[in-house]
Amino acid sequence: MSKEGKLNKITVPQLQRLKEQGEKISVLTAYDLLFATLEDQAGVDCILVGDSVGMVFAGYENTLPVTLDEMIYHTRAVRRGVKRALLVTDMPFLTFQISPRETLRNAGRIMQEGGAEAVKIEGAYCETVELLTKAGIPVMGHLGLTPQSIHQFGGYSLRGKSDSERQQIIQAARDLETAGCFSLVLEKIPADLATEISAMLKIPTIGIGAGVGCDGQVLVNYDMLGLFEDFKPRFVRHYAQLAEEIRQAVAAYVQDIKLGNFPGEKESF
Ligand code: KIV
Repeated sequence: MSKEGKLNKITVPQLQRLKEQGEKISVLTAYDLLFATLEDQAGVDCILVGDSVGMVFAGYENTLPVTLDEMIYHTRAVRRGVKRALLVTDMPFLTFQISPRETLRNAGRIMQEGGAEAVKIEGAYCETVELLTKAGIPVMGHLGLTPQSIHQFGGYSLRGKSDSERQQIIQAARDLETAGCFSLVLEKIPADLATEISAMLKIPTIGIGAGVGCDGQVLVNYDMLGLFEDFKPRFVRHYAQLAEEIRQAVAAYVQDIKLGNFPGEKESF
């Protein structure tokens, strides 16, 4: 909220201004109304309906099985909770790789039916980015460890280690900016490479496992809330231990029922 009590809605140009002003950008995933509402109220700048939904919400082994309809469904739920943050939705596997025209139709559905304000695309699909941008659909790029290419990479290890892959990522970042991306996610690449790209580009970079030199940071909400307590890769920080809190609350509820302590008189009619 501003001093006059107005909502400082984060738009695409507003997000880009944060970089110009030297203010770091906070991004967090959400997949449902409740978490989206809480994250928005807490002041996150951008909420990403990530295709990570397939892993952390649905329990798939990777993000490949996620469909366009599933992304639209989750975006609709998140949309209802987001008032201030910029709402970006991931384009899932095979919804943007086939042709630019098909991508335009699919991205249009995410905006029209889901209510997203921008889409995110993994990889250097520059012709597609140009077409979407021309049609008024803002695109967030995504380079480095792009999880939809997991089988090609053979795992979730650090990208951009070799000199040639480093140069490839730098060139792709340049090309995506020229094509019209309004920002760029850099996932799991060396911190010095992410810093170099962030200094080179005008558009904001959003890092995950890419060091503090990025213009902003993104994490999967369930990861940073400690909901998957055994999942603690180096780039994740647990800001809460919700898994343990939930277990304790549910165990207390179960015990109260078994002992006949719930409901009490005040909870009865
Ligand atoms: O799917 C996702 O959640 C993502 C972010 C972690 C960048 O792509």
